Amino acid sequence: MARRPIIAGNWKMNNNKAQAKELVDGIMYGISQLDASKMPEVIIAPTYTALWQAYDLIKNEPKIALAAQNVNPNPSGAYTGEVSLDMLADFNVKFVIIGHSERRQMFNESDEFINEKAKAILAKGLIPIICCGETLEQRESGVTDTHIASQITKALKDISAEDAAKSVIAYEPIWAIGTGKSCDAKEANRTIGEIRKVVAKLYSQDIADKIRILYGGSVKPSTIVEQMAQPEIDGGLIGGASLKADSFVELIKGAM
Ligand code: 13P
Repeated sequence: MARRPIIAGNWKMNNNKAQAKELVDGIMYGISQLDASKMPEVIIAPTYTALWQAYDLIKNEPKIALAAQNVNPNPSGAYTGEVSLDMLADFNVKFVIIGHSERRQMFNESDEFINEKAKAILAKGLIPIICCGETLEQRESGVTDTHIASQITKALKDISAEDAAKSVIAYEPIWAIGTGKSCDAKEANRTIGEIRKVVAKLYSQDIADKIRILYGGSVKPSTIVEQMAQPEIDGGLIGGASLKADSFVELIKGAM
């Protein structure tokens, strides 16, 4: 069975109430003009403060799913500033982004903590979007593939084949994030092919053929068509270009 493409918008730390409403309304209008049978799975990942509003705006719009940008894997309790899976599920959140390079680098998140989150997310019936990617230094010193293999192997530790098949991976080379300099589509395709080989080795070729692997890093309406034409790339995880409804809708169209 062909893998259904995903276009996911990671808002990061952007959008107040008014901006969030304008963006969600604009996306809903844009996709109302599209052929639903050809649409990719559309995901938006607002900040926690905009989740309630986004949930409310899309509650009758099955073509958009919600993701959270983070979660704490503990069920409840004294974790000041954190949000639990129960709280996210209450807002109909279906996906959780984990292992983003911004969280790994700025908040010192370890592979072990990311694995803990992945297991908790799957146990709750939600889907992790597991991010991986190399720094420019790692790329230039030729360790990209081994670095990513290690990140993915550790993130998927003790996760069943069935849960792995449901999960989503996002390959986001750090040097391409927010720089305007997207990874060459063929090179992104090659690297994602390597990730698929890692999944095949950990589980089986069948699971590797099922898991969806996205590319992220300066994806724009002008790059998406070539990216989506690559056989290994199942969609995009998009930051900057997901913050305006017209460009986000263009990205959705680019994946149709
Ligand atoms: P940009 O699309 O802004 O480069 O961000 C990519 C990203 O980090 C998505 O998670």
